[in-house]
Amino acid sequence: MRQSLISNFQRVCEATAIEASKWAGHADKVSANNAAMKAVRHGLGDMSMSGHVVIGQRPLTEGPQDQAAEKNDDLLVAGETLGRGGDSLDIVVDPIEGTNLVANNQRNAISAIVFAPRSTLLNAPVKRMAKIACGPAVHPEAVGIDKTPEENIAAVARSLCKPVHDVMVCILDRPRHAQLIERVRATGARVKLVYDGDVQAALATAIPNTGADLMLGEGGGPEGVLACAGLKALGGFFQARFHFTEEGEREAVAAACDFDIDQAITMDEMVRTNDIHFVATGITNGSMLAGVKHNSDGSIQTHSIVVSSIDNTTSYVTRIYRDGSFGSSISEPGLHDSIF
Ligand code: FBP
Repeated sequence: MRQSLISNFQRVCEATAIEASKWAGHADKVSANNAAMKAVRHGLGDMSMSGHVVIGQRPLTEGPQDQAAEKNDDLLVAGETLGRGGDSLDIVVDPIEGTNLVANNQRNAISAIVFAPRSTLLNAPVKRMAKIACGPAVHPEAVGIDKTPEENIAAVARSLCKPVHDVMVCILDRPRHAQLIERVRATGARVKLVYDGDVQAALATAIPNTGADLMLGEGGGPEGVLACAGLKALGGFFQARFHFTEEGEREAVAAACDFDIDQAITMDEMVRTNDIHFVATGITNGSMLAGVKHNSDGSIQTHSIVVSSIDNTTSYVTRIYRDGSFGSSISEPGLHDSIF
């Protein structure tokens, strides 16, 4: 049963990435988002499950000013249930993580879905979070959102047994991070500026051969829950702190959370289960996954990662859709050129 659920979520993720990829480089994030959302709604709606949408794409999570979120009738709404009935699940979906990356055909755009048993994923309607992420080799008590960047970098270097100047820190390239970037560089560590997509940047810290060791900085709230779930499934570390930027946010989050919303948020507060599955498919090429390939013979090739906390496995799946329908599926390492 569980295996068929995983496989169906994976198919939905692939279909979503394929639809999004058709808009890569068209400078039209609204159409890309519409196409991806349509695929998600159709795919999840058809599954044998009772999937509770934990985080929707409505204003508080994506922002009322965000055109991509505003003009789409297929947007998932927090609290709605998708599927034809079956296992009762919490789901968090990001049909396109990196809408600008797709619009500009830049690296590292993915489609991502997390599912877990019902009432286990945090539903906190917050737009922004400060975040820290690193891989399983780092001792979780040595790092944290309350520690300074210098302390965190030194701890990562010690855990990974490498000099500080070999530590690679991923940070979203935003003006708000100017001081953070300066401080990280002053330690001697290397900085990888990420234009968009801090879910994949966070996950990359726990995946061998991406070159990423630590992710720091503030990004989207829904993306924080996705990254936390993925890292928990991978055995990595993630911590966050809410940053309230909009009127009414603090009150809405306080009502949704049974913990101190001004303290560091632990992985167990964001994801209250060890039964987690994280699925992502590359839309454009990236450090973690290759993007969708539209082959000259009309076939379409997708590359996905499926992380399961139940059996501690990470699978890379390459699938070829011949004539846009069913195809062959083989597992492969999924390694390719790294940007880190
Ligand atoms: P979208 O795909 O929704 O545009 O998100 C991209 C992203 O870079 C996220 O990965 C990140 O968490 C968030 O935007 C950061 O938001 P902002 O651009 O406002 O700093």
